Amino acid sequence: MPEPVTPVTFPPAFLWGAATSAYQIEGAVREDGRTPSIWDTFSHTPGKTAGGETGDIAVEHYHRYRDDVALMAELGLTAYRFSISWSRVQPTGRGPAVQRGLDFYRNLVDELLAHGIKPAVTLYHWDLPQELEDAGGWPERDTALRFAEYAQIVGDALGDRVEQWITLNEPWCSAFLGYGSGVHAPGRTDPAASLRAAHHLNLAHGLGTSALRATMPARNSVAVSLNSSVVRPLSQNPADLAAARRIDDLANGVFHGPMLHGAYPETLLAATSSVTDWSYVLDGDLAAINQPLDALGLNYYTPTLVSAAAASADGPRADGHGASSFSPWPGADDVAFHQTPGERTEMGWTIDPTGLHDLIMRYSGEAPGLPLYVTENGAAYDDKPDPDGRVHDPERIAYLHGHLSAVRRAITDGADVRGYYLWSLMDNFEWAYGYGKRFGAVYVDYATQARTPKSSALWYRQAARTGTLPPVTAAE
Ligand code: FCB
Repeated sequence: MPEPVTPVTFPPAFLWGAATSAYQIEGAVREDGRTPSIWDTFSHTPGKTAGGETGDIAVEHYHRYRDDVALMAELGLTAYRFSISWSRVQPTGRGPAVQRGLDFYRNLVDELLAHGIKPAVTLYHWDLPQELEDAGGWPERDTALRFAEYAQIVGDALGDRVEQWITLNEPWCSAFLGYGSGVHAPGRTDPAASLRAAHHLNLAHGLGTSALRATMPARNSVAVSLNSSVVRPLSQNPADLAAARRIDDLANGVFHGPMLHGAYPETLLAATSSVTDWSYVLDGDLAAINQPLDALGLNYYTPTLVSAAAASADGPRADGHGASSFSPWPGADDVAFHQTPGERTEMGWTIDPTGLHDLIMRYSGEAPGLPLYVTENGAAYDDKPDPDGRVHDPERIAYLHGHLSAVRRAITDGADVRGYYLWSLMDNFEWAYGYGKRFGAVYVDYATQARTPKSSALWYRQAARTGTLPPVTAAE
């Protein structure tokens, strides 16, 4: 990629963050009262993850968090986004909290604050307590009520020291990969259940937001992180445009409709009427979901390219998170998914920073006045230490440079983007892919748990310290 002529410089208050999630890094799954989540059960079910890998040990962050925070400080991070393991703080998903679980997160937050790193807490990054799944999981309304209670517990415990809150991470994945294509926990493949799950995740977000607000100081910010897809039609033919519209409703409108505008898109309700009658949307639900937010989190990796077509013999693609013959797109079996042309990462995801710019500009318009954060963006590569033990990842540097430049262009174009969280701080358990896909800026040797900053981490440190993107060759 050619170097821009002028330096790419960010506003002084811009947050330079990194993100992780509990099940992907903590390990210690049976310690201090934690009980299994749906990801424990799923990863221990034969055939569900690559090589049968699990998060049992992960990168032992539960025991190494002090060193990990020191590393974050060395890398110049000014913000860190992590998630709380629900079954660590409220083991059965109901009733009283476990103090040891809350203490872990309180200690982590204090360590971050002591190093001048702003914590951003995600309440739910896909690890539902197994007992709540046994009672029906996200397709059941009660799960949303339980989430509100859990939100209050965590808000009470950390609201005095954490200002940035995110209710849900990527509810699309929870609903449609968890209950539709089944490539994520709990691995169910029921299109009607996936739409019910989407509604109850929306309700959980709304009730959780209200619960946090009721218990926390007013200065705190409440947001949600959506993996809003950038859906592009293969051509400008009316049929392809309609296919793109349909997928846009199922990827985006199903969440931002009720959350930001207080209604599901009419076109979504019509297109899914053969799958569900939406009778579980009760009076008052939409108002409960449509809480004013303080910010919006956008997670972006790659655009989605679609056309109208009969479903391919292999069935529709499962959005890059794993293969399944069940679709994560209910009611859209006649939409075909295509590989966007261009270079790809190790996930097979096409590298296209214009998608991030488009996404930010779209939500800048959808939610005028709402501060935006890129709460995840990054790339997996097949990183390996060289004979001196150093890990060179020039592709990741180029990826970050391209995407951060796109963020900067969006700011120039008027979007209020306040920060960027690189996915991920360190290599970790990549869900159905196990440990085979390395997204970290820090390399983890899984045999020894040794952490080694890759050259991209050093490049990112320079960006964070100076507020200006170094050239792509700077850290080589
Ligand atoms: C996102 C998830 C995150 C990680 C990245 C690669 O969808 O939120 O946990 O898996 O993808």
